[in-house]
Order: sequence, then C-alpha cells, then structure tokens
Amino acid sequence: MPAPARELRARRSCHAVPGSNPRFLEKAQGLDSDQVFLDLEDSVAPVAKEGARANIVEVLTTGEWGDRVRTVRVNDWTTRWTYRDVIEVVEGAGAHLDCLMLPKVQTAEQVAALDLLLTQVETAMGHEVGRIGIEAQIENALGLVNVDAIATASPRVETIIFGPADFMASINMKSLVVGEQPPGYDVGDAYHYILMRLLMAARAHDLQVIDGPYLQIRDLDGFRRVAGRSAALGFDGKWTLHPSQIEVANEVYSPLQADYDHAENILDAYAYHTSERGGATGAVMLGDEMIDEASRKMALVISGKGRAAGMSRGEVWTPPE
Ligand code: GLV
Ligand code: MG
Repeated sequence: MPAPARELRARRSCHAVPGSNPRFLEKAQGLDSDQVFLDLEDSVAPVAKEGARANIVEVLTTGEWGDRVRTVRVNDWTTRWTYRDVIEVVEGAGAHLDCLMLPKVQTAEQVAALDLLLTQVETAMGHEVGRIGIEAQIENALGLVNVDAIATASPRVETIIFGPADFMASINMKSLVVGEQPPGYDVGDAYHYILMRLLMAARAHDLQVIDGPYLQIRDLDGFRRVAGRSAALGFDGKWTLHPSQIEVANEVYSPLQADYDHAENILDAYAYHTSERGGATGAVMLGDEMIDEASRKMALVISGKGRAAGMSRGEVWTPPE
C-alpha cells in the first residue's frame, strides 16, 4: 500500500542560501521564491559549518518566512557533520522547519537513517513525529540507479532533486558548464535520460521532482532555456542561486494562463456532463474539443500546478441553461 501523498507545496523556485552568510540569510526573507533552502553543505566552507548551524537556527526562529517552504540542506552521510547538523537544526528550530534536504543520496538506507534520527529528535523535543519532510538529492550514478528505493525509503520523502554539478563529476562528463550540453555530444540532450529517470521515480511514487542549479547566474536566457526543458518534461521547479532567477523560475514552472483556464474549464465541463443533471455522458464536447476521463486527468495536473502557484481563473466555463 503506497504511503498517502504528503501535502503538495509549490516549489517552482527553490532558492539556495549559504548558511554561513548572515546578509544573504536576511535578504532571502524578502524574496519571492516558493521555497528557501538554507545550506550547510557545499556552499559552506568546512571551517564555517558549525557557525552556519547557529546562524540557521537563529534566522529560522526569529525571521519572517511567510508561507514559503523552509528547508535546510544538511551534509551527506559520508561526512562527519550530518548527525550534528540534524540534531542542532531540529532541536533549535524544528518547529520552524518544513524539510531537511539530504544531498548525495546513494541508497535507501541513507534516507531511512535520516528518518530514524529525525524521529528521535522530534520525539525528544515533543514535536509531531513525521511532520518534517525529506528532500532527496540525487547526485551520482549509484543514487540514480537506486532512485526508486530512495523514493520509497520513508513516508517523509517529498521531493527528488537533481544535483547536476556533482552528477556531472560523478559520471566523468567531459564538461564543466552545468546545464549546458557537453562539447562533442551533438546527437541529443545529454541529460535527457537522467531527467526522465528522476521524473519517472517521482511520478511513480507521487513525489515532486526538482531541477538543480544553473551556475551562469548572469545568463538569464540560458537559465530560462534550461529550466524550460525540465518544465516541459513535467518537473515542478528548479533551484535558484540569484534573486534574478526567481521570477523566471516562477514563470517557467507555472502553467500558461490560457492552459490553466482551459484545464479548470475541462474539469467543470466534465463534472457537469458526467453528472445526472448534465446527462451522465462519458465523452463530451467542450467547444470544438472532445473530452473524456483522460482529459480530466491531464487537466488535473495543470490545474494542480496553477492552484499551487496561486493562479486565478480568467475565462470561466458555464453550464448550458
Ligand atoms: C548541487 O548540489 C549540484 O551538485 O548540482
Ligand atoms: Mg551537489
């Protein structure tokens, strides 16, 4: 029996903030990202890790984060920092935290270990057990091979995240430019398999799936192009590293207004026509278009994304008199 899906939260833009930079931690509170993740991992130097934990606890407990998703990325289990990251952050700010992000996940056991540790800290602190979710970052070949087991390793898992920089290093890809095609590969998209594999695992297990960073932060056209590809496949959002990327991500991962209106109209028209009052038919016409149960399922996806993004309807379908 699959675990019940966790609450669907908008994650079009997932903004990265180094936990060692108090100025950025302050500034992130005023940005328009759907999610913020306060980092203890690769954007924080080893000597600054301990101070960063304290900074993060301070800004989570005293800052104004509105309704955005608040996540902390801890260090991965192969380091010496992970357990103390979890204990200090969750003991200090567990009630102000939505998720922990676990980077470089390679096996289901690593997710299970984080679940157990979280459960202990939540229990000891008198917090609701299981409320804090897990975001699993897939950043190497072993993680990708095990992604289905990782996705189902704990009911806390909410998202699968692609970590392209570490991933490129892990598979020896001949390029240093994250998100762009490796020179010499001119027969397709070198990331297609990875993105599709992550997407299949996420959809098979009712999770969200998030694209990773685009490092050329001044190249907004490049960001839009790369984000547009994963959005077209069905990804829910992307990391942002600079405030200017947030607006683009929010736009690219939202449905177009016309598609959102159309989806809501399909849902209304289909509900009406399949009801007793509307004639109880299965396949029905909406304008010039024939819609049926499969159309309803497609419409639910677009409408779900639009509602999560706070969109409102333009043109509204009304039942015949
Ligand atoms: C992010 O963590 C990446 O490795 O791309
Ligand atoms: Mg990484």
